[in-house]
Amino acid sequence: MSILFTRILGTGSYLPDQIRTNADLEKMVDTSDEWIIERTGISERRIAAPYETVTYMGAEAAKKALEAANISADEIDLVICATTTAEYAFPSAACEISGILGMTDTPAFDLAAACAGFSYGYALAHSMILSGACKKVLIVAADIMSHACDPTDRSTIILFGDGAAACVLGESEEEGTIAVHISADAKYGPLLNLAYPKRGVAVQDHLWLYMKGNEVFKHAVLVLSDLVSETLKKGNIDSSQLDYLVPHQANLRIITATARRLKLDMSHVIVTLDKQGNTSAPSVGLALDEGIRSGKIKRGDILLMESFGGGFTWGSALIRY
Ligand code: COA
Repeated sequence: MSILFTRILGTGSYLPDQIRTNADLEKMVDTSDEWIIERTGISERRIAAPYETVTYMGAEAAKKALEAANISADEIDLVICATTTAEYAFPSAACEISGILGMTDTPAFDLAAACAGFSYGYALAHSMILSGACKKVLIVAADIMSHACDPTDRSTIILFGDGAAACVLGESEEEGTIAVHISADAKYGPLLNLAYPKRGVAVQDHLWLYMKGNEVFKHAVLVLSDLVSETLKKGNIDSSQLDYLVPHQANLRIITATARRLKLDMSHVIVTLDKQGNTSAPSVGLALDEGIRSGKIKRGDILLMESFGGGFTWGSALIRY
């Protein structure tokens, strides 16, 4: 029997305990709580302790997703970890996470798509299941962006936070995933980039995350506007049928612009960035899990997830939860 559909079986997330507020940032750089809230919508973000690595946070989120799906790790056929801030090139974070979960014979690899990581992971997992190669895929997304930002650069350090999200996608007889879309355009790479740390180079000499914020902002609004319209069209769904927009959490002004484009009231948008900032790859997964666990998102709801990041990369998933 060929597999017709995929659906979300469970989600999970992990956030470090340590909170960095806008008041904390006022002591680090020349900024103010008012400026940050007005220009970004962010009030606080979580900061990873040394033990809270990409692998650790990813594994914790994965355990919660498996629990929510009510399945054991040995039922998983593939582990994907979307990250650009893992400790090692190899073993990959996905391999380490599979080890923590007790898997000994399951393919696992990392995926680098910056802030679009969760959407890329979701689209890939969907295709792997539809192809018949897998029955259940564990998508993990985790990043420690606070380590990537220059602590003296007020234009970036205020934006980012740390965390992890996970989602088990499985084959289904009923429709779950309606449409997915992923894409990239390398010509905008210079506007937003992060170099790998170099061996033997002092920490203070590493290249920090670079972002031409206002340029990225303009492109993000345009790309996301087209992306949400095209994804709805592909899925033959009208925006009035949407229960929730689950957007990438980069800037509240970008989120409200996308909601406006969809003619969606903000009560139908999951917003987590006020408490989390931009966590990069896990951002959409964290918002999804928060929406589900808070009871807002219910089984049967139609959701549109979207994200945009360095590369530029972007991706979406239109689903019936
Ligand atoms: N506190 C106070 N002032 C700040 C500041 C801060 N933290 N950061 C920048 N400024 C200043 C700038 O120096 C500039 O001052 P000037 O006019 O004297 O030169 C002024 O604010 C405006 O800067 P600009 O960069 O044009 O602001 P902005 O309104 O575009 O907001 C971002 C900056 C970064 C919040 C916004 O551009 C953004 O969110 N970009 C997109 C991020 C994103 O989507 N990333 C997606 C992929 S991860």
